[in-house]
Amino acid sequence: MTDRAIAEIATDILSYLRTLPQPRAAAATISRKLAIEPLRLSAALECLVNWGYQIAQDGETVLLSAAPDRLIDTEISFGLGTELIGTQLHTYQSVRSTNDIAHSLAESGAPEGTIVTAEEQTQGRGRQGRSWHSPAGTGIYVSIILRPAMPPDKLPGLSIVTALALAEAISAYCPDRVQVKWPNDVLISGKKTAGILTELHGDRRMLSHVIIGTGINVLIGQDDFPEELRSVATSVAAQSRFPVRRVDLLQKFLRQFELEYRGYRVHQLSRALPRIRVLSSLIGSVVEMDLRGRRVRGTALDIDSHGRLVVDIDGVKEAVVSGEVHVVAVE
Ligand code: BTN
Repeated sequence: MTDRAIAEIATDILSYLRTLPQPRAAAATISRKLAIEPLRLSAALECLVNWGYQIAQDGETVLLSAAPDRLIDTEISFGLGTELIGTQLHTYQSVRSTNDIAHSLAESGAPEGTIVTAEEQTQGRGRQGRSWHSPAGTGIYVSIILRPAMPPDKLPGLSIVTALALAEAISAYCPDRVQVKWPNDVLISGKKTAGILTELHGDRRMLSHVIIGTGINVLIGQDDFPEELRSVATSVAAQSRFPVRRVDLLQKFLRQFELEYRGYRVHQLSRALPRIRVLSSLIGSVVEMDLRGRRVRGTALDIDSHGRLVVDIDGVKEAVVSGEVHVVAVE
């Protein structure tokens, strides 16, 4: 009896129990319905317990009483309901970076929509060469493989709609306090909660694949951030009045992302822009940035239809493509 065979049986038992009005059934019924010998049934139930499921056995009856908040295949796919994003899953306990794994999978032909998740990253990467703090069991670290038939100049817009999907998913836990800091950070009450690292592969005319890597601080306590992040970063649970389950938040994000991605491919930013503007933390603020090698200051006026930040610098409107923008003051 291989572990793999037992894992497959465990997955079948879980799926079967979840089709029932109450997730309980007699062991004999499970054995008969799924054609499993009693010995395999006990090994598979033990396997489910090892995955974190609570299985109560009352005499002959098997009851699934709780599911773990772990980023494992059986949890992420249960009730996900997407048609593209997350239909193929690769879940890991600990990896260097989910973006690296997603890139290798894409090179070997993984289809669009494949996702890679990990409970922990040992070398999580952020933008501008920074690292992404990725402790075990408290965050969501997910990379999505896309194969968009679009030129690379459409990429900034793709990152912006990802941030929108993320902000909308997080808003379910912290209504009215979530903002998008252009181009693609998500803030709760002004503190960074999630970030996106978009990496493209292909030539200048057409992308072969794009990896959208997203990190969300979900369960980490405010005091558990490293000293240098404590005052500028936060997590969904630290800010929410509601209990937060990572699996639910990830599913919300994947569903919302699928909608935004479809919308972006057809309408570019036109459908998303009104919502992005409402959620923007920069519009109306005095900002500082590096522009063509110069440190400049101006007022952020808008985000245009290409996803660029429109800034008034000494009376001249500049459309900024990307880069680090710091808020100096709110006008
Ligand atoms: C940023 O705000 O600097 C971007 C952070 C992106 C972090 C995510 S976590 C999943 C994926 N894998 C990585 O190594 N980085 C991204």
